[in-house]
Amino acid sequence: LLAAIVGAMLALGGVFLLEYLDDTIKDPDLVRDQTGMPTLAAVVTIPGAGPAERLVTLSSTRSPAAEAYRVLRTNLQFSSLDKPVRTLLVSSPSPGEGKTTTAANLAAVMAQAGQRVVLVDCDLRRPNIHRLFQVANNNGLTTALLHAGADPAAFLQETSLPGLQVLTTGPIPPNPSELLSSERMHELLEKLQAQADMVVLDSPPVLAVADASILATRADGTLLVVSAGETRLDMLVKALERLDGLSVRPLGLVLNKLSERRGGYYYYYYYQYARRYGDDDSSPKPNGRRPRRAARQRKADQAL
Ligand SMILES: Nc1ncnc2c1ncn2[C@@H]1O[C@H](COP(=O)(O)OP(=O)(O)OP(=O)(O)O)[C@@H](O)[C@H]1O
Ligand SMILES: [Mg+2]
Repeated sequence: LLAAIVGAMLALGGVFLLEYLDDTIKDPDLVRDQTGMPTLAAVVTIPGAGPAERLVTLSSTRSPAAEAYRVLRTNLQFSSLDKPVRTLLVSSPSPGEGKTTTAANLAAVMAQAGQRVVLVDCDLRRPNIHRLFQVANNNGLTTALLHAGADPAAFLQETSLPGLQVLTTGPIPPNPSELLSSERMHELLEKLQAQADMVVLDSPPVLAVADASILATRADGTLLVVSAGETRLDMLVKALERLDGLSVRPLGLVLNKLSERRGGYYYYYYYQYARRYGDDDSSPKPNGRRPRRAARQRKADQAL
């Protein structure tokens, strides 16, 4: 019996030790204490990995994830009351944390609220916006930069959502950082801003290359996406330091890929929050009916 008790205590100790050593970001309150950054929205794990499923705000407007993007849209407005954001950069400390997914869905909910939105793929290293929206990428940002005299509207592509246009990357150049820091890029962003209510920029990770930092100095606001239970706090701190060196202070964080298991209390809190306050989508439903919820989302509902 004694051996069993000792064994159980050791196992419990091991669990606490692992928990203690785990310095990944999970808790919005804690990350605010440690970095001063508010979490503007928590996005649950989206079921399915295809382009249509990832564009959850178009394919599943009543899902918890879509609701979280609407919360993000609202909270962004609150965090930029004095200086309205017209050009918003979406980045993250490291690769794969969900920059592209966030930028695309945020751009979509903004367009659903009646804004004219242009989503620009400024990730000239791993372009993905054309894949997500399933459009061609022969022309885009880089070709618009080559034709400086031309109206950038000529390079924009329509999406299935009225009000949302995309500027894909175009052919990948050998010198992305130089292109993004060029005077022509500056002029292009100004022209786009004059034609749209909101310009959303997708970008490479802050810590990998200079590109996101360059863009952050050009944008009115920056959002950093962190992956719940994956992004380490020290990586976020490094990214914030790099931006701080350029006098850029992000508006806040998006806690992405939150799972019930990893998120615990916060999954519950944000999910409830999104249900109560984020449910303001007024886009028309096919046949005037609410689209069927995926089985997994129904399960999530029941779990609450
Ligand atoms: N909320 C989410 N739920 C489930 N999967 C997600 C979520 N957000 C992102 N992903 C998945 O994580 C992967 C990376 O997402 P995404 O491409 O948006 O990240 P990224 O930061 O733009 O990556 P990269 O650094 O390669 O540009 C993709 O496979 C995507 O489907
Ligand atoms: Mg990306």
